[in-house]
Amino acid sequence: MDSVPIVVLDFGSQYTQLIARRLRESGIYCEIVPYNEKIENIKAKNPKGLILSGGPASVYDKDAYHPDSEVFELGLPILGICYGMQLITQHFGGVVIPSDHHEYGKAELHYTESCDLFSDTPDPQIVWMSHADRVDMLPDDFEKIAYSDNSPYAAIRNSEGSIYALQFHPEVYHTEYGATILKNFANKICGCESSWDMGSFAKEQIEKIRAKVGDKKVLCGVSGGVDSSVVATLLHEAIGDQLVAIFVDHGLLRANEVEQVQKMFESHHVNLITVDASETFLERLKGVTDPEEKRKIIGETFIEVFENEAKKHQDISFLAQGTLYTDVIESVSVKGPSKTIKSHHNVGGLPDWMNFELIEPLREVFKDEARKLGLELGLPEEMIKRHPFPGPGLAIRIMGEVTKDALELVKKSDAIMIEELKSYGYYDKVWQAFCVLLNVHSVGVMGDNRTYDNTICVRMVESVDGMTATFAKVPHELLNNISNRIINEVEGINRVVYDITSKPPGTIEWE
Ligand code: XMP
Repeated sequence: MDSVPIVVLDFGSQYTQLIARRLRESGIYCEIVPYNEKIENIKAKNPKGLILSGGPASVYDKDAYHPDSEVFELGLPILGICYGMQLITQHFGGVVIPSDHHEYGKAELHYTESCDLFSDTPDPQIVWMSHADRVDMLPDDFEKIAYSDNSPYAAIRNSEGSIYALQFHPEVYHTEYGATILKNFANKICGCESSWDMGSFAKEQIEKIRAKVGDKKVLCGVSGGVDSSVVATLLHEAIGDQLVAIFVDHGLLRANEVEQVQKMFESHHVNLITVDASETFLERLKGVTDPEEKRKIIGETFIEVFENEAKKHQDISFLAQGTLYTDVIESVSVKGPSKTIKSHHNVGGLPDWMNFELIEPLREVFKDEARKLGLELGLPEEMIKRHPFPGPGLAIRIMGEVTKDALELVKKSDAIMIEELKSYGYYDKVWQAFCVLLNVHSVGVMGDNRTYDNTICVRMVESVDGMTATFAKVPHELLNNISNRIINEVEGINRVVYDITSKPPGTIEWE
């Protein structure tokens, strides 16, 4: 991307990513940078407009976040949202004060002036507020363009019509015409075209990869998940057989998954190297019951196997990774670090000798955009829509020691559960669904015989991003079908339970 039409400065609001999403959904490419991004870096993106996000701070705090003051001197249109509005007000000489009435939630917005920003939106309309401070006195040369009950200055602009500021959040879903307002800012005030889509993004990325790689080779780890599959397919489109795609089969994948992944890449003519390391993984996991220990062993063994395979290939200069935009933003965000609950394992921490240059074609896309890109590249819908699956695989869905028998039980049960979920039309309605083999035996009766067998726990959750989740309230009939079939068809299971824990306090996976 030679230029980034809209650059969003992130002052730490939990909604900053939504600004980018809304704009991209309207066909306008944009990027988020930290609030204190160097002015040269912003200029290098050659933007047509800037957005200053909301944020948790107060502009009159001692350690308030301030952007490089030159951002106001670039002559670019600016839109300030909430904290961004207060920054603009303060910068141009107005006054911001703590509000008597904190305003959270819905408010009715009334226009006092008609303007391009509000084109194609009704007056009044519902907007969503979330602020403690408010503008008390406008800077010279600014005027009010809208108000709400508790915000006399709900929207303002300068006389030139190049700087706008909103007390409400146009990026959140609850602001009914928020997406139109953001689009108006980009189209009508900054002069951006709505021409960006996943197809043009794919073409651009392919060109970029070709130019960067030349005739060199690129190594790519494939896990069967959406991100790495999209990256490998994109690379293959760009550089064909210069791609060395390695699929480490750790033996902890779901039933038939290895074959499915192989078939998918075969149909795209990607020369996928599958390394069957399942015995090595099982051997190393023998006797191990501690969840973190399992994760550590799997992570280390994975890297070792990947490394040994990679060493067989000469002249590799690049390593491709499926890093997503959310990963990038989290690492630049002004928010503090959070606590490690589980050591997530991805093909991330590679050894020093793999001193390759990185290629991260998904660095600028969100998860759902990666899915669209996958469809654009012709990956099967079934694969693209698959529920998330953890790197350590079924090992963290088997309580206690991971053995061949335990794997069989959980694989068979999981396959039945997914089949039932799909045939009931519920697969796409839940965010993630899976089976956990509990280390619990209980008494049952089948026919005239007493049984003393294993328990399978079915876990289904609703979530947006996996950070929080609630257990899915699925029909009892569906649970009944799943339970019946698992007990009848999987020898060794005589009891099925349903997990009714949300996250927090539980996590989604059991280990
Ligand atoms: P938890 O259990 O932390 O899971 O609530 C949140 C989401 O992350 C997935 N998960 C992982 N994904 N490597 C991954 O790539 C991991 O080690 C890992 N552990 C959990 C989990 O399936 C859920 O979607």
